[in-house]
Amino acid sequence: MSVRIVRSLADLRGLTAQWRREGATIGVVPTMGALHEGHLSLVHTAQRRATRVIVTLFVNPKQFNSASDLAQYPRTEREDAVKLADTGADVLYVPDADSIYPPGFVTTVSVAGPSQGLDGAARPGHFDGVATVVTKLLLQTDADLAFFGEKDFQQLQVVRRLVRDLDLDVAILGCPTVREADGLAMSSRNVRLSPTERRLAPQIYAAMLVAAERIASGVPIATVLEDCRAALLAGGFGPVDYVELRGAETLAPVRSAPVEPARLLVAAWLGSTRLIDNIAVAALNRTADALLPAA
Ligand code: PAF
Repeated sequence: MSVRIVRSLADLRGLTAQWRREGATIGVVPTMGALHEGHLSLVHTAQRRATRVIVTLFVNPKQFNSASDLAQYPRTEREDAVKLADTGADVLYVPDADSIYPPGFVTTVSVAGPSQGLDGAARPGHFDGVATVVTKLLLQTDADLAFFGEKDFQQLQVVRRLVRDLDLDVAILGCPTVREADGLAMSSRNVRLSPTERRLAPQIYAAMLVAAERIASGVPIATVLEDCRAALLAGGFGPVDYVELRGAETLAPVRSAPVEPARLLVAAWLGSTRLIDNIAVAALNRTADALLPAA
């Protein structure tokens, strides 16, 4: 069954109001299109959790800090609609720029804490753009549940924080990263990789797995991160924007063996394509001695 495309906010509001009268639970999957299996897995999860599912498609100019990156971002609305056809998504909401940023729009949602460092440092203004558009999309869709991939882990924490801080009545659900068979995290940017770059790209995941294993076996964090960076540079990546270990909840830097769940996050360039990825790093058990009260 083909997905219904809605372009105006008035039409979207008409539908969500009707669904509300019917007692529906509304789930939203915000996207910038160029849908791949990762997005479709979010839609399937949304389908299981909500009675009505809206997928949004808006290439948000405010979150691009480079005009050429924005210009090159893949735009594949027709193919996206076809991919959604049999997912059970009710609506593909494709707002025009004026529905999101009408003339005179001057508001920015800016989340400090989790936006700092990592992509927040490498892409100034990026998370202000994300936080602003996500706030608008959550309000416009009247969603009860919103689904985001863990692939953009910092984005997920930014969204969680803004929803808590602004008392938005929506549950944010993080969903596991979907990977190609060789480990490369699915991303709309992967189509930009040349065949050679595509062959090199899975090294990010492989290097992160090695790093996580070394952390688990007690190698000092600074050494692990430095070696991971060196492995990526030796493997053809460059520059490497960051290789960092952060607290999974707060995204605060972790400099010694993690005692809370942590996240290893990497951003690195392959030619003109910037790839990001991250994996969970388990907390290391404190030794029995460390847990004993001081004598
Ligand atoms: O992850 C994305 O595709 C975008 O950052 C989002 C959440 C749709 C906001 O534009």
